[in-house]
Amino acid sequence: TRRVRARDLVAAKERGERWPMLTSYDQYTAAIFEEAGIPVLLVGDSAANNVFGYPTTVPVTVEDLLPLVRAVVRATSYPLVVGDLPFGSYEEGPTQALRTAVRFMKEGGCHAVKLEGGRQVAEQIRAISDAGIPVMAHIGFTPQREHTIGGYRVQGRGDAADEVVADARAVAEAGAFSVVLEMVPGEVAKRITHELTIPTIGIGAGPDTDAQVLVWQDMAGLRSGRMPRFVKRYADLHGTLTEATRRFAAEVRGGEFPTAEHTF
Ligand code: KIV
Ligand code: NA
Repeated sequence: TRRVRARDLVAAKERGERWPMLTSYDQYTAAIFEEAGIPVLLVGDSAANNVFGYPTTVPVTVEDLLPLVRAVVRATSYPLVVGDLPFGSYEEGPTQALRTAVRFMKEGGCHAVKLEGGRQVAEQIRAISDAGIPVMAHIGFTPQREHTIGGYRVQGRGDAADEVVADARAVAEAGAFSVVLEMVPGEVAKRITHELTIPTIGIGAGPDTDAQVLVWQDMAGLRSGRMPRFVKRYADLHGTLTEATRRFAAEVRGGEFPTAEHTF
């Protein structure tokens, strides 16, 4: 099967088909997600939190992300790989945004890019998509603006719904092929999904979007501790890996590993 293309995702919406998306930052998870039939992998700037250990996505750089993009692309042949433009790499304007997007395509080898913002970044989306690079937009709660927004907060409640809807229209109008809706009320996500012809991808946006995305370490329970309400854990990798590590450590200490079968 050939690699998924941006236009396939728009066609899937026309057919009323929903699809799953996950983040990936390395070859093994990318290969597993491909085998499990995930059509879109996002090398998210959430690598800041989930790979590099930063408290927010603000510090992560283009140089940090490009090697991860290359790893996910090299490990797969089926999913569309989306590279996430980090904070500071596109805000200055369309010229900077296009320059960064071109680096992601040429040096990262990905098939589309994503950036955060609605009406404020419509010119950037237009410049990148006019250059022949598919753009995934990201509106609602945008983690790169966390310091302005004031923490992880649902966007578009009550009267603010019209703001999110205006952002959705603006990114579609500017040429985005899809749009992530993060932490917006389910009713608002539903309204946007009905209105737009491009697919909506929800995270904390209820059941009525065209697609759903989660950070893989949240989905698989590698991350421990308090999780946002929109996360569902489908495995306990934290528990599995902790247990395996404890057994390895105990067997080394007890002289039970290695044995003759592991010895040349
Ligand atoms: O970086 C990321 O993981 C994201 C998704 C959660 C949409 O932007
Ligand atoms: Na992101």
